Amino acid sequence: MQIDVVGGGSLGLLYGAKLADAGADVTIWTRSMEQAVQLAEQGIRLIEVDGISERVIRVKSEWMEHASLREWNKDQNSKSAGYNWLLLTVKQTDLNDHLLKKLALLTNGPENEAAAMMCLQNGVGHLERIQEALPNLPLHAAVTTEGAKRLDSRTVAHTGKGQLWLGEWGGNGRKGDETLAISQKMLVSMLQSAGFASSLSNDLENRIFHKLLINAVINPLTAIYDVENGQLPAHPAREKLMRELYMETEHVLVKAGMAMPEDGWQLIIDVCRQTSRNISSMLSDIRAGRVTEIDAINGGVTRLAAKHGLQAPLNLAITELVQALHPKAE
Ligand code: PAF
Repeated sequence: MQIDVVGGGSLGLLYGAKLADAGADVTIWTRSMEQAVQLAEQGIRLIEVDGISERVIRVKSEWMEHASLREWNKDQNSKSAGYNWLLLTVKQTDLNDHLLKKLALLTNGPENEAAAMMCLQNGVGHLERIQEALPNLPLHAAVTTEGAKRLDSRTVAHTGKGQLWLGEWGGNGRKGDETLAISQKMLVSMLQSAGFASSLSNDLENRIFHKLLINAVINPLTAIYDVENGQLPAHPAREKLMRELYMETEHVLVKAGMAMPEDGWQLIIDVCRQTSRNISSMLSDIRAGRVTEIDAINGGVTRLAAKHGLQAPLNLAITELVQALHPKAE
């Protein structure tokens, strides 16, 4: 199976390495030419979840700027051979017009009528943007709880086993397309052989909302307080703000169509416990001086609130506070 992994960050390296190891024909598309060269010459160094075992996995890699030069193989891309998968693993903050144009080239080459995309971003808003830019591409949303940390441009540590749910998203799909249905099952089974607990979900919107709820509470508050996830509920003042942000966010998401989690508050506390020594992705971004995903997470909640005639003053204030902590987006 041919799989293009776009993004050489933690998830891109983890999924790329394990899928290649399981026999998929993986190409990692990177933002920098240096990383593409390094991956092609030295492979991905993967540190397993025990934190001790490690190995090097060979993959193909390409610089994203070379997307337009790609030569398509007619046979491989003919529809009868099934869909080729593109796993989009970049952060929402990197999903700009330039990247969307490159994605169009990768998925829409002259002979490539059979590409499908799986999107692994946090937050909301990206699927609509991709759909608008690539209206003919069967789009799939995915929610993952896999833990991964990129240690350098070719090394990734698998920091926690999680789950992946995948499902077709929006109107781009081709209802009744048997080839697509088979390709989805093939991708899930490839992911499973690579060691990822994965399944097709018919409840994906809900899972996206649940993940958004977790990210909207834990990520900005760990970034503002500059603490590990486990430290967040450990202090009464932090816990109070957490709870208020949780209640406001849950109210908005339920209005937007989320089924109430059985015990959403406990879910958040459990994630803090299970990832207690983790530095959240938003705090990592702040510490590294990178633009954060705040606009796609709490900004997304604020926009959803407005769409449903609600206000979300805490989400709005938190968005502005986190934006004040990081450099301006270009
Ligand atoms: O974004 C993250 O860092 C994670 O999804 C989680 C678990 C919410 C916080 O570490």
